[in-house]
Amino acid sequence: MNDDKLLEIKDLTVSIKQEKEMMPVVNGIDITIPDHSIIGLVGESGCGKSMTAKSINHILPSFAKITSGSMLWHEPSGQVCDLVTLKEKDIRKRCGTDVAMIFQEPMTSLNPLMCIGDQIKEVLMIHKLEKSQDRAKARVIEMLDAVEIPDPAVRYRAYPHELSGGMRQRAMIAMAMIANPKLLIADEPTTALDVTTQAQILDLIKKMCETHSMSALIITHNMGIVSTLCDYVYVMYLGTIMEEALTDELFRNPMHPYTRGLLSSIPRMGDNPEFLETLPGNIPVNKEKFRGCRFCLRCSDDIKKCFFEEAPLHKVSDDHYVRCHVAAGKED
Ligand SMILES: Nc1ncnc2c1ncn2[C@@H]1O[C@H](COP(=O)(O)OP(=O)(O)O)[C@@H](O)[C@H]1O
Ligand SMILES: [Mg+2]
Repeated sequence: MNDDKLLEIKDLTVSIKQEKEMMPVVNGIDITIPDHSIIGLVGESGCGKSMTAKSINHILPSFAKITSGSMLWHEPSGQVCDLVTLKEKDIRKRCGTDVAMIFQEPMTSLNPLMCIGDQIKEVLMIHKLEKSQDRAKARVIEMLDAVEIPDPAVRYRAYPHELSGGMRQRAMIAMAMIANPKLLIADEPTTALDVTTQAQILDLIKKMCETHSMSALIITHNMGIVSTLCDYVYVMYLGTIMEEALTDELFRNPMHPYTRGLLSSIPRMGDNPEFLETLPGNIPVNKEKFRGCRFCLRCSDDIKKCFFEEAPLHKVSDDHYVRCHVAAGKED
């Protein structure tokens, strides 16, 4: 993986207001996104993936707030800027040109009253990347072609409801890519799509990253997506990074019981169709205060220490870290 850093998220905590108290839902996480890399953030629903992603562009809901940490953006010039402390107007300038985002359901992000071509063209006009309307329109048609929307000049005039789910997601990708961002954040980009369309969209994201020398943060609960797309993976549980590793290493040698649980719940050809492996238990409700490991209530490997002491992130190798007393002990 590339050693040049693009974004370093350090000790990020996001809290939400609950009964007059601020409750952390992302707990001091560290994520590094290098240049030209595809990074995965994986974990069950509710573990804090979207809150992490929305912190980057300052689009957290009103009840959530970044309560500590920094997000260091490395400019090509070598300058470093902390996105957490940026003013709203400076963040807006960077949305689309530095960091672009795509979501699970494009229908909620696209304007139903405007044709998709004009919506994409607006990004160019708002960021003053094109003065001429005709030239901007031509660029949008080129981009619709690049995301493999057939008859792009005709589809330019289509409204979101006239497109299929896959085509709408392609239009969202075109909108995200039009200002040539350095980082694409894709939050569950294919969850609402059927498997064939899902594979095509994942291929397209990969291709876009390569052709535009762009990095991506792929947020998913699906280990299959991680394996096809990502160079490096962070596994998140209840707002904390439990394990991180190069993708091949994580699949070859998963060390955290939670990661192993996620991997064993992927259905495989030849498995007994009557029995699908699941992780026992549920994510505990937020109100519970943790002294020990967040996963110990669902873990089969737990030892006494797990109940009263949170494990530090243990270095297995330069490309593999795990937060587990038992895994760290086994490995030493
Ligand atoms: N609309 C909401 N109202 C109250 N709490 C919320 C809301 N959205 C998210 N949260 C809280 O933030 C936590 C993290 O949410 P989120 O980042 O959306 O999870 P993920 O994207 O991993 O599914 C949730 O477990 C929940 O406690
Ligand atoms: Mg989410």
